[in-house]
Amino acid sequence: MSKEKKLRSQEWFGGDDKMGFVHRSWLRNQGYPDDYFEGKPVIGICNTWSELTPCNGHLGDVAEIVKRGILEAGGFPLEFPVMSLGETIMRPTTMLFRNLASMDVEESIRANPLDGIVLLTGCDKTTPSTIMGACSVNLPTIVVPGGPMLNGRFRGGTIGSGSFNWMIKEKQKTEEFDAEDMREAEICAARSIGHCNTMGTASTMATMSEALGLTLPGFSSIPAADSRKKVMQQLSGRRIVEMVNEDLTLSKILTRKAFENAIVTNAAVGGSTNLIIHLIAIARRIGVDIKLEDFDTIGSHIPLLVNLMPSGKYLMEDFFYAGGLPVVMKELGDLLHQDIITANGKTFKENYVKAKCYDNEVIAKIDKPLQENAGIAVLKGNLCENGSVIKPSAATLKLMNHTGRAVVFESMEDYHERIDHPDLDIDENCVIVLKGVGPKGYPGMPEVGNVDLPEKLILKGVKDMIRISDGRMSGTAYGTVVLHISPESTIGGTLAIVQNGDMITLDVENRLLQLNISDEEITKRKSEWQAPEPMATRGYVRIYLDHVEGADVGADLDVLVGGSGSKVDRDLH
Ligand code: FES
Repeated sequence: MSKEKKLRSQEWFGGDDKMGFVHRSWLRNQGYPDDYFEGKPVIGICNTWSELTPCNGHLGDVAEIVKRGILEAGGFPLEFPVMSLGETIMRPTTMLFRNLASMDVEESIRANPLDGIVLLTGCDKTTPSTIMGACSVNLPTIVVPGGPMLNGRFRGGTIGSGSFNWMIKEKQKTEEFDAEDMREAEICAARSIGHCNTMGTASTMATMSEALGLTLPGFSSIPAADSRKKVMQQLSGRRIVEMVNEDLTLSKILTRKAFENAIVTNAAVGGSTNLIIHLIAIARRIGVDIKLEDFDTIGSHIPLLVNLMPSGKYLMEDFFYAGGLPVVMKELGDLLHQDIITANGKTFKENYVKAKCYDNEVIAKIDKPLQENAGIAVLKGNLCENGSVIKPSAATLKLMNHTGRAVVFESMEDYHERIDHPDLDIDENCVIVLKGVGPKGYPGMPEVGNVDLPEKLILKGVKDMIRISDGRMSGTAYGTVVLHISPESTIGGTLAIVQNGDMITLDVENRLLQLNISDEEITKRKSEWQAPEPMATRGYVRIYLDHVEGADVGADLDVLVGGSGSKVDRDLH
């Protein structure tokens, strides 16, 4: 920080007037000596710890280690809690609350005497929500990813937390997999602290943080239980103090090039489709123009280098032992912007030049990838004027160019009621259409796009079918699943007027999702369509419904896009 620029915290602590007394005095009930208030950078540790977010259950201990680093570097650490979002427990879906949590983060930072921020993250939404909130304030910020669980082991085999659950229905129908087996598998799948150990959304978000330059290099792949994680936590504490001194704010790291690096990296690691929505939302908070089409233009030709579930075979622990993300970054070479700055003050090139691969079965070489053109494809057509997405690396090749008969479910409830009915008129060539699960739909855009196939087809051995919806898909899931259809059905997008028996064409090569009826028929059906009653009349959900934007632009609240630039902010930052 330049000599002329005063620490933000000194606006609170530096005064000799009555308010200076007030701001210092109450904090001193914790026993802090005088010099803590005399120009030490104050570092807020934004903690998403919660016992209701099992993936983040260890972050209380992490905060203590981060504090060690902050103190060593001459900073003053102050930990604060923010809303935590536990993917497996919260109803109806954590995505409904991502924007609310981001508001908590933003206002907690802005309202307090903080100079720099450490974001403690883990479970899926705790990463984007905290980064979004921090972006709207734009202080020096470093991300400390909580880390994945150790490999799950079950009866001699490997089991991925987050991926095994998608096999349960099939196992119950086709194998003798009973309640006792399930209890045993449960704890085997989650055998240590940390978040899901597949390349699901949490690992994708941690990878994204590193690819954006917001973590120390190599941090995101280390398992939560590994002592090397603790070293990184301590070093992050030291580094954030330096970042404050250098005035290395988020907007200096989060340039358009950084977002492009995140898109390229996500394709190479086979990351979750959820990245799209979160990355666009983060970009819009920091004022960078990233569009849905960029994911296709920048990422779709990138080869898949990482052999991790759900696209592949291994888990995050294996990835770390093979060399982790640094190896991927080095392999990607000039496909990444090499010259941009990251949280440690060095460039991507400097950070990853020495990376070594220890297992090419887990991390492939760029000239011998696991799959060519593995990034996300963005589809257009009359069924999705604003776009929809598919993850080709998780899809079935022969279904990627297919025309089939629509079997329509008007809502999740309708789906649950009828999907396993023996009389349901459906075969493996049909297209399962699910409506009412977009941002305003369910509401909150749940991860239901990869709905289970009908029981009678599972018993016939059918493994995959085309499924289309305005919802999302868990990063741990797989299948030929078209997601994020926009505009969503609840606001009268074309998806709303699809009827049983309509023919639908998916043509991934030509980026097409088409409802094969005439324009006149579409206009007629739309004129007859009636909007559903709003799902809430009060509270946060009402605010959310009034302000949430489409999936194609990040599903943020319109009033949260960008930094607020409020008078309070201008005066203090
Ligand atoms: Fe928390 Fe998967 S449930 S990361």
